[in-house]
Amino acid sequence: MTDHRIVGSPSVTVDGLLAVAIELAYQAGAVTLSHFGKVHSADAKADGSPVTVADREAEALLREGIRARFPDHGILGEEFGEEAGTAPIRWVLDPIDGTRSFMRGVPIYAVLIGVEVEGKPVVGVAHLPALAETVAAGQGIGCRWIGGSGGASRSARVSDTTELGDALTLTTDPQSVLASPIAGGWKELCARVGVVRGWGDAYGHVLVATGRAEIMVDPVLSPWDAAALIPILSEAGGRFTDLGGEESIHGGSGVSTNGHLHHRVLGLLRGA
Ligand code: IPD
Ligand code: CA
Ligand code: CA
Repeated sequence: MTDHRIVGSPSVTVDGLLAVAIELAYQAGAVTLSHFGKVHSADAKADGSPVTVADREAEALLREGIRARFPDHGILGEEFGEEAGTAPIRWVLDPIDGTRSFMRGVPIYAVLIGVEVEGKPVVGVAHLPALAETVAAGQGIGCRWIGGSGGASRSARVSDTTELGDALTLTTDPQSVLASPIAGGWKELCARVGVVRGWGDAYGHVLVATGRAEIMVDPVLSPWDAAALIPILSEAGGRFTDLGGEESIHGGSGVSTNGHLHHRVLGLLRGA
């Protein structure tokens, strides 16, 4: 077992945090599956996005599990906000990423867990319970791809595509890209890549991390959408940044690539 101890919380390791994050993601995923295909109503949040009983139950379970194990850690979750901690460690939670898919019985939704140490995401788990597929990464440990079409657990690796013309590009909501400041750059990118699809939300980033797509663009992201993705993409050999090129959960946007194409993609999106 590797030993990546955390300064300020020496009894905690990246490996230990990752193991707990995977365990809790599976538990929260089971909660969402108990509602999958049965939830047809939702409350509208202030930003107009839907929240269901499953989102709330799954986040409550995650919070209980974290508090029981690490009472001094902070927690930021999409549905229940911020709980300050005393340790330099914060868990960043999106209990269901892709609620609109979830509500329609479409299986491409994810439980997202990111863990920050001193503000930097070092652990990321994206668990897609209805696809029985998970990617899980820890800084310096690598990224594992568990389940999915190949079955077993193996190393997650981005593709080695270097030509835009060979790339598959994804987004969540074409309408929101076309209404955003990168509309012109997006059209230019779409004209140059091989294939464009809309397999979006966190699933799109997971497809890049596992080498099945090269580029995923989302002009509207919150910290809980991004926290898990930074370690996942970087440990899989790719990159996740905001549109400004920062590896940050606070940029309000997210672009994942296989790394080779990142600079060119950001340039095109910015109209450079
Ligand atoms: C949404 C997804 C989507 C992003 C939206 C989010 P939700 O998350 O992450 O990709 O564009 O901004 O709200 O609401 O399904 O958790
Ligand atoms: Ca989300
Ligand atoms: Ca959500």
